[in-house]
Amino acid sequence: MTIDIRGRIAELSEKLHFHNYRYHVLNEPVISDGEYDRMFRDLQTLEAEHPQYARADSPAQRVGSDLSGDFPKVQHPAPILSLANAFDESDLRAWEERNLRLLPAGSRLRYVLQPKLDGLSIVISYENGALTRAATRGNGVMGDDVTANVKTIRTVPLRIPVDPSAGAAPPRLVVRGEILFHKDSFLALNQEQVAQGLPAYINPRNTASGSLKQKDSRETAKRKLSAYIYDIVDSEGVALESEWDILGYLRALGFQVISDASLCADLDEAAAQAAAWEARRDALPFEIDGLVLKVDDLSAARELGVVGKDPRGAIAYKFPAEEATTALLGVTIGVGRTGKLTPTAQLEPVFIGGVTVSSASLHNYEQVAALDIRQGDRVIVKRSGDVIPYVIGPVPDVRSGDETPILPPEVCPFCATKVIQPAGAIDWFCPNPTCPERVMRTLEFFVSRGAMDIEGMGPQTIAALIEAGLIQDEADIFTLKAEPLLALEGFAEKKVENLLSAIAAAKARPFARVLTSLGIDGVGATVAGLLTDNFASMADLQATAAQVRDAEAAFIKKTRPLLGDETARDPDVEQARQRMAHPTTDLAPRYLEAPELGPRLERLLRPLNLPADSIAIIAEQLRTLIDASRPLHAIEGLGPILAQNIVDWFTDSHNKSVLAKMGAAGVNMQAEEKVVAGTALAGKTLVLTGTMSAPRGEIKALVEANGGKVTGSVSKRTSYVVAGDSPGSKVERAEKAGVPVISEDELRALLGG
Ligand code: IVH
Repeated sequence: MTIDIRGRIAELSEKLHFHNYRYHVLNEPVISDGEYDRMFRDLQTLEAEHPQYARADSPAQRVGSDLSGDFPKVQHPAPILSLANAFDESDLRAWEERNLRLLPAGSRLRYVLQPKLDGLSIVISYENGALTRAATRGNGVMGDDVTANVKTIRTVPLRIPVDPSAGAAPPRLVVRGEILFHKDSFLALNQEQVAQGLPAYINPRNTASGSLKQKDSRETAKRKLSAYIYDIVDSEGVALESEWDILGYLRALGFQVISDASLCADLDEAAAQAAAWEARRDALPFEIDGLVLKVDDLSAARELGVVGKDPRGAIAYKFPAEEATTALLGVTIGVGRTGKLTPTAQLEPVFIGGVTVSSASLHNYEQVAALDIRQGDRVIVKRSGDVIPYVIGPVPDVRSGDETPILPPEVCPFCATKVIQPAGAIDWFCPNPTCPERVMRTLEFFVSRGAMDIEGMGPQTIAALIEAGLIQDEADIFTLKAEPLLALEGFAEKKVENLLSAIAAAKARPFARVLTSLGIDGVGATVAGLLTDNFASMADLQATAAQVRDAEAAFIKKTRPLLGDETARDPDVEQARQRMAHPTTDLAPRYLEAPELGPRLERLLRPLNLPADSIAIIAEQLRTLIDASRPLHAIEGLGPILAQNIVDWFTDSHNKSVLAKMGAAGVNMQAEEKVVAGTALAGKTLVLTGTMSAPRGEIKALVEANGGKVTGSVSKRTSYVVAGDSPGSKVERAEKAGVPVISEDELRALLGG
């Protein structure tokens, strides 16, 4: 029996070491957090009961670490402790009983209950009210100094108290809290990524971690991180007696403190509230992975002390794991309106966090390959909040050897057209615009609420109309007539009348809506707004796209013969050639404001060793391309890949014919007149940079309502650069170009307050 326990401790230690390494070093966990926690707890229990078998290198004696090579290390003023876990009410009861045994007989405990935020631990120091340092938890003793990055987070006060009337600052205060993304900020960040043609981030916690560990704090500043403070690690001149008072004190100093904390008279009350919390989880603005329960009385908590790295006076009440392992039964392929292929994992049904999950997103084939997920694998699946469950990765340890790679199909499963992967793209596409699945998805999106919003045109109606041969594309909707509709089964007079009047109303949707409805990859409501701000009509957009396409074709035709065609072994030569092959995404945006192209190109193409007259020809072609594409590339918030998508979409022959039919049927293709509030900025061009008091879009609208224009890059034609907090390199460029730099307040003053 004793041999067994020693063996079990050794086995658990080995396994935990392995999984620690997978998680922290390789970033490739093979078991779920829940399974890890169970093992960890088993080991802790065994070691507590049989300390003679605990190994010196036991993982239970160690604190995890987030230290990285990129930041200076700083020592914390006191150990940054962790929490033991409870998984159900009986764990909570056992915890209280253990504690009561250690306290004087007859003690009664009150508790503070608060959500356990799923973010990153941060330790922030203030000296005489000024923020002096911010560090990650690191290994609990030393952390990464991320002061510059943390200072960009708007909910972190740079001075305390934020309200000077709240009294004097303590000489020294070191607080602890959590850095995270609010769900809506994370969504917005991902929308921006997609608008730039970049892949979406997968989970808020890892993205918050990545954002905090940027080497350039301007990058951190661009992400809308939030900080909640919940504890005091060390202080001078602060005397508080309860956890509840700590929260009140932190709030009074101006920290963002979780508003949902509660003070419970006893454990019964805390346990009852804990149960209610689980149901609220998805409705919270941020992700939580459980609750934290703390003994309210600080002197009792001090008396209870610390075991290992966990204070006895506090415990994490973990919600049921949101991850589980299960068998991957197969992969199905979805085709979206853009033709994008999305692999979906079909799973052996598994119960995760209260819901049975039988399918999960695999994101894309590149991700599948990167994670090495194979047909026949056991996989780890995560379900959190309202996001679609997704596969985190395989469990390679339990492979039989019969697993096979998951590859993109050769042909579209719906129309058998050969699938393609455009240069530089992560995704695979069905390129056939008349693919029945694409047409169905296109139409569904076209009539949906955020798009043309045609009531009465649900998926069944669309399918019936396609089936009857009445529509083949979105434009056909606008020429539908009553008689053939009435001949269809289930289309009574009233229904047809309603449908036709909904269609007639949709013809007058605002231009931005019409653009959104087209389903151009990356063009949602935000980007459509940018386009309608800069193009007066569909015809203008089409003309620009056609000019870019022509200039691009001429560029390639005239420059290719100059480059030589022997395959290059030198990577620099290859890279220079690559740029020349994608001038619209790789060259034009880069030199948008360059007054002279010759010297710039000479530098860029030096590895190719071209004669001066070749450079001159390339410069001339590039100038034409830059001028043609400027209307798109000068739009701030619209990246080069997205600009290319737009050009591709508007020059596609199928799309051109759909647009022509829509125009002929009377669909609105003109931008609306702008409302004008004043003319203070008439004829002026402004560039905005840095963080302002309102979202960028609002400041831009304000400028435009006063007759001004906002562009993305600084040139001699810029009238003012408006600099907010932590402005970018645009200020330097403005100073070089002799363009005046003004603050947001000065801008508002220009507008008359
Ligand atoms: S109190 C000594 N309160 O959960 C007690 N922790 O292992 C210190 N966490 O890494 C923790 N929300 O970063 C506390 N409201 C909260 C929390 C919280 C999240 C994290 C913390 C720590 C982990 C506990």
